[in-house]
Amino acid sequence: MSKTTTEAAPTAAATQDAPALEVRDGRTGKTYRMPILMEGVEGDQAIRGMDLRQVKADAGEFGLMSYDPAFMNTASCKSAITFIDGDKGILRYRGYPIEQLAEGATFLEVAWLLRNGELPTQPEYDKWVHDITFHTYVHENIKTFLQGFRYDAHPMSMLCSSVAALSSFYPEAKNIFDPEQRYTSIIRLLAKLPTIAAFCYRHVKGLPFIYPDNDLSYVENFLSMIARMSESKYEANPVFVKALEVLFILHADHEQNCSTNAVRAVGSSHVDPFSAVAAGVAALYGPLHGGANEAVLRMIEEIGHPKNIPAFIEGVKGGKGQRLMGFGHRVYKSYDPRARIVKQLADQVFAQIGMDKDLEIAMELERIALSDDYFVSRKLYPNVDFYTGLIYRSMAFPTDFFTVLFAVARTAGWLAQWEEMLLDKEQKIARPRQLYVGYGERPYTNTLTTKNPRTKKDSLRR
Ligand code: ACO
Repeated sequence: MSKTTTEAAPTAAATQDAPALEVRDGRTGKTYRMPILMEGVEGDQAIRGMDLRQVKADAGEFGLMSYDPAFMNTASCKSAITFIDGDKGILRYRGYPIEQLAEGATFLEVAWLLRNGELPTQPEYDKWVHDITFHTYVHENIKTFLQGFRYDAHPMSMLCSSVAALSSFYPEAKNIFDPEQRYTSIIRLLAKLPTIAAFCYRHVKGLPFIYPDNDLSYVENFLSMIARMSESKYEANPVFVKALEVLFILHADHEQNCSTNAVRAVGSSHVDPFSAVAAGVAALYGPLHGGANEAVLRMIEEIGHPKNIPAFIEGVKGGKGQRLMGFGHRVYKSYDPRARIVKQLADQVFAQIGMDKDLEIAMELERIALSDDYFVSRKLYPNVDFYTGLIYRSMAFPTDFFTVLFAVARTAGWLAQWEEMLLDKEQKIARPRQLYVGYGERPYTNTLTTKNPRTKKDSLRR
């Protein structure tokens, strides 16, 4: 057996009256009692994966593992940050329903809540906002760095690299077990993400970078860095400010999604938080995750007209790999509560600035999909990304910038989850097991005639 074994020890005394799972190994006839963890007020239940390792047909064996590709039924941590009930369509941050936070809180208030577990007092909030506001500037070299990108670089590639590059500007950030240093790094990330995001936007547009305006709120300042031209003071449209504030709150955290898992896994190596958050940005870039709002708009543009919707839906149902983007979710098997809020928000934005031509297609797509047995039987409902793209576009954000907006907001959640992981005594470096299905041992034979082939010169000149 090539694996190094951590000797399997049952994790808790499985006393007769404690809740436990009794498993009988059909190979040996032996019965095992595995304590059932009953966690939190919501009553989540699990057995510890390590308790399976005591199950062996033969004393020399490694012990049983659980096989769970894509973590479909594996809890990787205990977390007190975000609660989701996918069947009931519930999302709460630290116990507060997302609907109430979207209605009454600011994004920075939510960022505080996610990190600290409680709503801030006024002095706490004032200091938090002050500290974030006064860290919004980035080192001038970041500008030079960004200018090295091609004019058509995807802003998520630029954002990911720039966030990773920040770690080289703040080498002290590697002192992750120093609470003050952690606080400074968290403040820096929350403060600088909008600045870098806006600089990416301006670079792609060929516009001069606009420095942060510390008199403005977090969202107003972001819009100023995006849109300000020659005016001395930028005044954002209040409808857009409100919409972006709500969208940032809705996207701030979503428990153990793909990018958060990436941040936790990379952070578990005890790398600095800039590098860990860069991993989150990379994960979010994918079309099955944060890239979905971009994919929704491209899909709607491709459909082009409501009359083409039935043929499109038939194509999706035909199973040729085309998906109805913005529909379906790993966790929500009913209406995504964020989608409900976003739909209302879209109505408010379009009531102010006029109907988007593609909104009609989106609404018709939703209507047809919600009444079609293919989608209903698979519990595929609109997710948060279905309508966000339409709002972002009405605010004149380019399509490939949508995921950047998501990343700015999700940074709050990534950081809260990263810190929770670091301070969790049960956590170690994340390192899954595998079921090896490759060859057994075989001898090496030389199949080459030369080990150092030279590239033909003319092939380079072609
Ligand atoms: N359109 C059509 N069929 C779908 C869709 C969809 N959007 N989503 C799932 N299905 C079908 C699958 O083909 C599968 O059907 P089958 O049982 O006949 O094979 C069934 O529903 C289950 O799908 P899975 O892929 O197993 O579901 P999973 O939980 O792994 O995937 C995911 C979730 C990735 C979000 C998926 O629904 C999807 O690709 N949706 C479109 C992309 C999207 O909108 N992503 C954004 C997610 S939200 C976020 O990240 C912020």
